Amino acid sequence: MPLVVAIDGPSAAGKGTLARRLAAELGLAHLDTGLLYRATAALALAERAAPDDALLEAAARRLAGPDLLRAGLRSEHVGRWASRAAALPGVRAALLAFQRRFAAEPPEGRAGAVLDGRDIGTVICPDAPVKLYVVASDEARARRRHEELQSRGEPANYAAVLQDLRDRDRRDSERAAAPLKPAEDAVVLDTTDLDVEQAFQEALRIVRERLSANPKA
Ligand code: CDP
Repeated sequence: MPLVVAIDGPSAAGKGTLARRLAAELGLAHLDTGLLYRATAALALAERAAPDDALLEAAARRLAGPDLLRAGLRSEHVGRWASRAAALPGVRAALLAFQRRFAAEPPEGRAGAVLDGRDIGTVICPDAPVKLYVVASDEARARRRHEELQSRGEPANYAAVLQDLRDRDRRDSERAAAPLKPAEDAVVLDTTDLDVEQAFQEALRIVRERLSANPKA
């Protein structure tokens, strides 16, 4: 059984960076599952400026490898539509098998995989031996997202970024299909006062502790 490390949490809490670094450190494959929802939204947006539910669901069903390499997937606009797409059960169902397969048969013969998203520990891989739930204050997350957008040269306004993040959190937490919440057996990691290196060291410590405590791993 490949090792699965599940990392969930709200927008801009630092999951992506952590997941990438943990995967590199542990020699595991990494899947940013948010990218699947972003790519779904972008595919539908390429057809219509305001896609309806049916179009978003159709996009999820026909998503293919090259769609994940599309330019602009990380923009705020695509992120907002990704969050709408993610509330649709049809979209989630269409993306489920790919994620489970990635975890069960990690690419390049890796011994396991790190998956980051919103529902990895609760829905996609409920049996993962290691589950992290990464959080940070709204302000810390907005500051990071704002800096990230600026460094990419995207126009960004701090107050708008903060508002957008809260709207997205609400939509992600309140939806009926796979809402954002920690799995019962997840370890919560608060990165508000941690820099990237400190967060990584703390996550690594938690992962190693869980692995030595968990006979399934
Ligand atoms: O980078 P950020 O955290 O803002 O977003 P992301 O992780 O790329 O995810 C984009 C959107 O996809 C989120 O707002 C969620 O609504 C949705 N998502 C989800 O529902 N389930 C996942 N496993 C991953 C993302």
